Amino acid sequence: MNVRNLTPAHLQACLALDQASLGGLWTTAQWQSELADPRRPGMGLWQADNLVAMASGWLVLDELHITLVAVAPEQRRRGLGRQVLEALLAEARQQGARHATLEVGVTNAAAVALYRSLGFQDAGLRRGYYRNGEDALIQWLRLPPINDAEPGCG
Ligand SMILES: CC(C)(COP(=O)(O)OP(=O)(O)OC[C@H]1O[C@@H](n2cnc3c(N)ncnc32)[C@H](O)[C@@H]1OP(=O)(O)O)[C@@H](O)C(=O)NCCC(=O)NCCS
Repeated sequence: MNVRNLTPAHLQACLALDQASLGGLWTTAQWQSELADPRRPGMGLWQADNLVAMASGWLVLDELHITLVAVAPEQRRRGLGRQVLEALLAEARQQGARHATLEVGVTNAAAVALYRSLGFQDAGLRRGYYRNGEDALIQWLRLPPINDAEPGCG
C-alpha cells in the first residue's frame, strides 16, 4: 500500500472509486477542478495500480474543509480510511492548516465513528443539509502547528 498526492493524471481512478464507493458524488468536470487546484489537496492509497482509498479537501485560509473520504467497499474496516485521512491532515498541516472541519450525514455511522476516532468533535448540526433531507453533523479538529516542539528525550 502506498500513499500519494492525487493529481490530474488520476482522474479515471478517482471517478471509478467515487462511483464504487459513493455512487458518483462528483461529475468528471468537478473531479477535474478538484485535481487541478493546488488549494484542494487530495491523497490516495494505492494497492499496486489500484486506487483503494482517497480523501480530499479545500484549504480556506488556515482551515481544511474536508469534502470527500472514500474507501473501496471490499477494502473497508482495514484502517485505510483512517490512514488516508491522516495523510490528508498531514498534507494540510504542511500547507499551513490549523483546523479541519467537515459535514457528515447523521446516519453515516461509519464516517462519524471514523472522524471521532481521529479526534474530531461535534460542533453543530445543519438541518436538512442533504438533498434527501438528512441533517449534517458539523465536526472540527484542531491541527497542531508543524513547528510545535515534540517532547525530547534529553
Ligand atoms: C467511512 C469510510 C471512509 C470508512 O473507511 P474504512 O477504511 O472502513 O475505515 P477504517 O477501517 O479506517 O476505520 C477507522 C475507524 O472508524 C470507525 N468505523 C469505520 N467503519 C465503521 C463502521 N462500519 N461501523 C462502525 N465504526 C466504523 C471505527 O472506529 C474504526 O476503527 P476500528 O476499526 O479500530 O474499530 C468507508 O466506510 C466509506 O468509504 N464509506 C462510504 C463513503 C462515505 O460515506 N464517506 C464519508 C462521506 S464523504
